[in-house]
Amino acid sequence: RIAGPSGLVIFGVTGDLSRKKLMPAVYDLANRGLLPPGFSLVGFARREWADEDFCAVVHESVKQYARTPFREEVWRQLADGMRFVSGTFDDDDAFVNLRGTIDALDKERGTGGNFAFYLSVPPKFFPKVVQQLKRHGLSDPPADSWRRAVIEKPFGHDLASAQQLNQVVHEVFPPHEVFRIDHYLGKETVQNILALRFANTMFEPIWNRSYVDHVQITMAEDIGIGGRAGYYDGIGSARDVIQNHLLQLLALTAMEEPTSFDADALVTEKLKVLDAVKLPEDLGRHTVRGQYTAGWQGGQKVAGYLEEEGIDPASVTDTYAAMRLEIDNRRWAGVPFYLRTGKRLGRRVTEIAVVFQTAPYSPFDTTDTQELGHNALVIRVQPDEGVTVRFGSKVPGTQMEIRDVTMDFAYGESFTESSPEAYERLLLDLLLGDANLFPRHQEVERSWEILDPIEEFWAEHGRPEPYTAGTWGPKAADEMLGRDGRSWRRP
Ligand code: BG6
Repeated sequence: RIAGPSGLVIFGVTGDLSRKKLMPAVYDLANRGLLPPGFSLVGFARREWADEDFCAVVHESVKQYARTPFREEVWRQLADGMRFVSGTFDDDDAFVNLRGTIDALDKERGTGGNFAFYLSVPPKFFPKVVQQLKRHGLSDPPADSWRRAVIEKPFGHDLASAQQLNQVVHEVFPPHEVFRIDHYLGKETVQNILALRFANTMFEPIWNRSYVDHVQITMAEDIGIGGRAGYYDGIGSARDVIQNHLLQLLALTAMEEPTSFDADALVTEKLKVLDAVKLPEDLGRHTVRGQYTAGWQGGQKVAGYLEEEGIDPASVTDTYAAMRLEIDNRRWAGVPFYLRTGKRLGRRVTEIAVVFQTAPYSPFDTTDTQELGHNALVIRVQPDEGVTVRFGSKVPGTQMEIRDVTMDFAYGESFTESSPEAYERLLLDLLLGDANLFPRHQEVERSWEILDPIEEFWAEHGRPEPYTAGTWGPKAADEMLGRDGRSWRRP
């Protein structure tokens, strides 16, 4: 799978995402021989840079963030195809310039008229940028070529704004040429959910309400909001990651087997399961939000959310969110899916734990099985990527004592191949036109439909509960599971 003749235009090229993820990913793809020799990268931003200045910035970011070793000849070839266009999104001359640049690259580097436009800019600029692309004839592909739009989350901040965004983008680019990035889908371990479930025989028979007690999907981060106050405040953890990453994880974990592995078949199944997601009736009992206060993390004192730079000291933004969802279908009826995420939690970990019911009857003396919990299959998304199975085993000795043990699969031990970074995989798929790992607009909209009532409820009901940085979130979250007779895993 090597990309054909093509180029990438990045709007907002001076931003963090571009510097830390996109530029290094382009280089890594080139270094792995997955880009065509004439591949071209065009940066578009307000700075008044010359091509050389842009090259220097890319060089710096590659040196700092690329995963693969630096090789001068790969860099040279890539750098030859780098151009910078300076301007604002209102500036017609800049778009005329962009068009000229692209046409010239077609001739000089053989990009074949195939260009993807990556909107690494806040969503309020999407309408302007896509309109300008249309106005200047950039969104219309020349004969036998393609033009694609790539949009980064947030895809709106609720259903209405997401629908509006989708409409604006679809007025210019046909739906199959719009690629929405949810970088979780680019993660190796997330793609492996489907391999684990559908390439094997041993898991699927028990992957249902007859055997599963509940599912816990956790995305915990130890970092705070860093320099992202402007984006994060007023958005919060549920909109930031539950609407997209966690609901995608839920969809992959719970969906039926697709008829094939192509984008349409996958979307059909993901949508079916998202459509079946049911909100709890009592949102006060089955959802929780929190906000971190000052505490200790990794031996360092860290500020509380309200003291972070750029945050309104009266902010009611959630930095932690947990909720109990159910899925109304034959496979999952009555099985809770508990989702939680938070910043400044105990440690960074993302995992999906499928927790099984206990044996219907135990022939063993209960005093001998006290250390026996539920069987569980845990997909360790990150870090420490792999899968753990937990089950009870006899403790060596003269008694029939039973204790939980684990059996582990670790990527690092089983494979010599290294995992590409999520953005690397997604950029390659984008250039290949392979949409499997990109959520469609219907999924995005359905996910907002799930979240909107919860956000509305929160907006009308007080403040998030404080939790100390470095802990595992607000007490209410423990109580929420406690009332169901369950507890959160401590990964
Ligand atoms: C992003 C969120 O989508 O995912 C961030 O906006 C979050 O708030 C990040 O930190 C986490 O990504 P990863 O790949 O480090 O788990």
